[in-house]
Amino acid sequence: MRRIFSGVQPTGNLHLGNYLGAIRNWVHLQQDYEDCLFCVVDLHAITVWQDPTQLRASTREVAAAMIAAGIDTEKSIIFNQSQVPAHAELAWIFNCVARMGWLNRMTQFKEKAGKNKENASVGLFAYPNLMAADILAYKGTHVPVGDDQKQHLELARDIAQKFNNDFGVDFFPVVEPLIFGEATRVMSLRDGSKKMSKSDPSDQSRITMTDDADAIAKKVRKAKTDPDALPTSKDGFEGRPEAANLMGIYAALSGQDLAQVIQDHGGHQFSQFKQDLADLMVDKLQPITTEMRRLADDPGYIDGVLKRGAEKARALSEPIMAEVHDIVGFLRP
Ligand code: TYM
Repeated sequence: MRRIFSGVQPTGNLHLGNYLGAIRNWVHLQQDYEDCLFCVVDLHAITVWQDPTQLRASTREVAAAMIAAGIDTEKSIIFNQSQVPAHAELAWIFNCVARMGWLNRMTQFKEKAGKNKENASVGLFAYPNLMAADILAYKGTHVPVGDDQKQHLELARDIAQKFNNDFGVDFFPVVEPLIFGEATRVMSLRDGSKKMSKSDPSDQSRITMTDDADAIAKKVRKAKTDPDALPTSKDGFEGRPEAANLMGIYAALSGQDLAQVIQDHGGHQFSQFKQDLADLMVDKLQPITTEMRRLADDPGYIDGVLKRGAEKARALSEPIMAEVHDIVGFLRP
């Protein structure tokens, strides 16, 4: 059985990287896989402080973005993580399987905790165990994500293997990351060496899924570049991360491969290319943003989708969790 699981944190500022690195790919994958679960990971979000009112709004916003981007709510399962107890429960079991040394190597924890590691929440440290639980509570086999989640998925594989080994079972599958497309790592518009992220203090660093056409045009126009013309071959990206980023975004949005974009736009000035890129972005993103706005006016509908999704997710996870209890040695009625 092949089953897709993936998730997005409801921490505000949903951006182009989330769309191109993840959500857009999910839309294509749902045709090819029998089960697809797409989760708004609110338990992950609270590993750093979230205002409760804002968390509710962001949870609905991420769900709306998934629906507006083309996730089919009948075929796929959209839900928020906290509505399904299996996630937190299996995460606890994995807290007892994963080793401190493994988690100590996670670069995302180091980045997020920064210098003040002692003051980070325990949840932030154990974050990757919850991620493994998300996937494995459904015996998920394939996980479409952006490049930044690679290390977490390697850990999920290690956890699955150690669980199977420790208990002498062949129970959890070894998950396969699906990282594909021309924009697996979209970079900041202000600094081509930094990932585009929800938490960057500068709103100019990212295109958000709620930006209107004017905001998009302005941000693209102001995006950091260098004085040279666009490169005419891939080798020309050496030392020019901003050029690589903008051309990669263009390729992903237009559905072309990077070589084609280089052939069509190589040698042009940035000013001309930025105009083309802004037009393309508006063309591709505005229909999604418009639909998100329409859905935002109907929170009852979104909540209904999440509720039905959670019911289906619980139905899939419960028999798996019952088996986990037996394997671990927990008595149950
Ligand atoms: P999150 O919320 O940071 O990001 C959601 C998805 O967007 C991708 N992404 C990017 N892709 C390309 N360029 C970027 N600049 C960029 N920024 C983010 C991420 O790779 C991700 O696919 N831990 C996860 C959420 C999660 C999850 C899971 C994912 C929780 N449980 C289980 C898969 C399976 C996260 O923080 O994603």
